Amino acid sequence: MAHTFNALRLLAGDPAPVRSISELTTEDLSPGDVLIEVAYSSINYKDALASRGLNGIIRNWPRIGGIDLTGTVLESADARWRAGDEVVVHGFGIGVDHDGGHAQRARVSGDWCMRIPNGFSLFDAAVLGAAGYTAGYSLHLMELNGLAPEQGPVLVTGATGGVASVAIDMLTRRGYKVTAMSGKPEAMPYLQSLGASEVIGRIDAQAKPKPLEKGQWAGAVDSVGGDTLAWLTRTMLPGGVIAAFGNAGGAELNTTVLPFILRGVSLLGINANSPMPLREVVWQKMANEYRPAHLAQIAHVIGLEELPEWLDRTLEGKVRGRTVIDMRR
Ligand SMILES: NC(=O)c1ccc[n+]([C@@H]2O[C@H](COP(=O)([O-])OP(=O)(O)OC[C@H]3O[C@@H](n4cnc5c(N)ncnc54)[C@H](OP(=O)(O)O)[C@@H]3O)[C@@H](O)[C@H]2O)c1
Repeated sequence: MAHTFNALRLLAGDPAPVRSISELTTEDLSPGDVLIEVAYSSINYKDALASRGLNGIIRNWPRIGGIDLTGTVLESADARWRAGDEVVVHGFGIGVDHDGGHAQRARVSGDWCMRIPNGFSLFDAAVLGAAGYTAGYSLHLMELNGLAPEQGPVLVTGATGGVASVAIDMLTRRGYKVTAMSGKPEAMPYLQSLGASEVIGRIDAQAKPKPLEKGQWAGAVDSVGGDTLAWLTRTMLPGGVIAAFGNAGGAELNTTVLPFILRGVSLLGINANSPMPLREVVWQKMANEYRPAHLAQIAHVIGLEELPEWLDRTLEGKVRGRTVIDMRR
């Protein structure tokens, strides 16, 4: 049976896509064997870029953006899923080359759905979403590579961002001493309330940096890339581990091999579009030993009508924490 629903649809346009909140039917959606009533989606930085046609993220139009969603299964042709199941979906191309979460309905493959771990509501799982998963996966991989609270402080860059806010919360919960690096001095009380014991400003890029500086960090969770990531390689303690997933400040990396061969620093690449077995491990950790304590505080909740404005705010760097879209508003 075809359902009607509202969505923010991105239509082909020059120079940028046209964004239109329109009434669609489920027949307009990309194909899939599971139909979901979307409860919540969110804005990730990638969604903001995609909604302006930047970085070639979306290549086929029209498209519904939104790289994550939580909701309830309405219909399923996949025996693993039944009407009423609560699921979280992120990555696997949703919001990029398959219609995504910025709509009241989504149709996806049953292979992409994950049951929401016990103890998380649809809202909690949406505040986490792709960003929270990235933070959780970073922590998981850093610990597999030897990070532990007794080894020293962990620096979180781009600290007011979505991934970083959740990372600060989880690291604190896990017993780490966290330093937050932010370009927003006014956000210090927010960052301290998530658990940061120290807040520092962004780095000053040096023309000719020394290959090694005083070692300060046992771990680093990096949203920023570019000169900030290069500086991190120079300021890690011996055996330090860096989780690099972002390029909010630049995609280039100019460093030397010395941090790696003299201090044994590890640079861990994070691609959050993980296979399902790894997602299940990380989500279980997020629901238990990494469980964040400040999800409601990290979230700013909006309705679908406000989504275009908040996508732009995200691109302009005017957003703090996670923007969650309540599809029932
Ligand atoms: N590899 C993956 O799978 C993956 C997954 C998720 C996200 N990402 C990437 O990770 C990054 C963070 O994502 P997000 O969703 O958390 O984004 P976000 O909410 O927009 O946060 C990014 C933060 O970076 C800082 N920042 C922005 N522009 C900067 C600049 N020019 N120089 C230095 N710092 C700057 C800001 O924090 P302050 O103002 O506090 O400094 C901002 O809040 C993005 O690049 C995103 O594309 C990658």
